[in-house]
Amino acid sequence: MTGYRPLVFAHRGGADALPEHTLGAYLRALDEGADGLECDVRLTRDGHLVCVHDSRLDRTSNGRGRVSSKTLAELDALNFGSWHPGYPADAELPDLTRLLTLERLLDAVHSSGRRVRLLIETKHPSRYGAEVERRLVRMLRHHGLAEPKPDADVQVTVMSFAALALRRIRAQAPALPTVYLLELVPPGVGRGRLPFGAQTAGPGVDLVRARPTLLPAIKAAGHQAYVWTVNEPADLELVLEHRVDGVITDRPRFVLDHLARM
Ligand code: G3P
Ligand code: CA
Repeated sequence: MTGYRPLVFAHRGGADALPEHTLGAYLRALDEGADGLECDVRLTRDGHLVCVHDSRLDRTSNGRGRVSSKTLAELDALNFGSWHPGYPADAELPDLTRLLTLERLLDAVHSSGRRVRLLIETKHPSRYGAEVERRLVRMLRHHGLAEPKPDADVQVTVMSFAALALRRIRAQAPALPTVYLLELVPPGVGRGRLPFGAQTAGPGVDLVRARPTLLPAIKAAGHQAYVWTVNEPADLELVLEHRVDGVITDRPRFVLDHLARM
């Protein structure tokens, strides 16, 4: 596979070894050499974008209830790290228990001194209306990240399972790259057509296995493919055979080590 090397993205910061969506996890993934970070964003009750995957707090914090029913101050008082088995061993990393806001993540990647590709997934466009995408574009614009600049250290791509969210992003920031995430194959996508100017398809690895013609069709149509969540050796071999452009993984060190041996 000479000359081929996909981008490696730390899914939720690298959720296998450390508590997901914590700043410590994201910084560790960059230290390990990940090319980029994957982050889910949701809105708090008072309109802040926070990096949390689930709609509820119960699995990843000592809080209860919906993220969208809490204020930023209420969320900031919770512990988002101690539940994870990797927490005690890596307690020296900064902010392994604190809620991460998108603002803090952007500040951290800006000051990391690294080239970082940030994949931001907007969650639940129907629950939050257009507000998630509106606030996201406003924040990216404030940071000078709403239009890709080839020489910039931080490159942002927005991802969603919902074509509706991609349409909103395109309407507000037409140059911002987008990924259409796939759990199944909607009409047209099997022939390589992506909605609303998305350049990249983001199928789950189970879908790649179930539909062997999907990635060839995506590639033949001139699109890129980022595949999630690639954690196991057999899955990694599969996506590398397809020469995917990006591997989204909870285990960035495992993927990077494997690529280094290729
Ligand atoms: O990177 C895409 C992947 O994160 C989608 O699944 O549920 O982990 O957000 P999920
Ligand atoms: Ca995600």
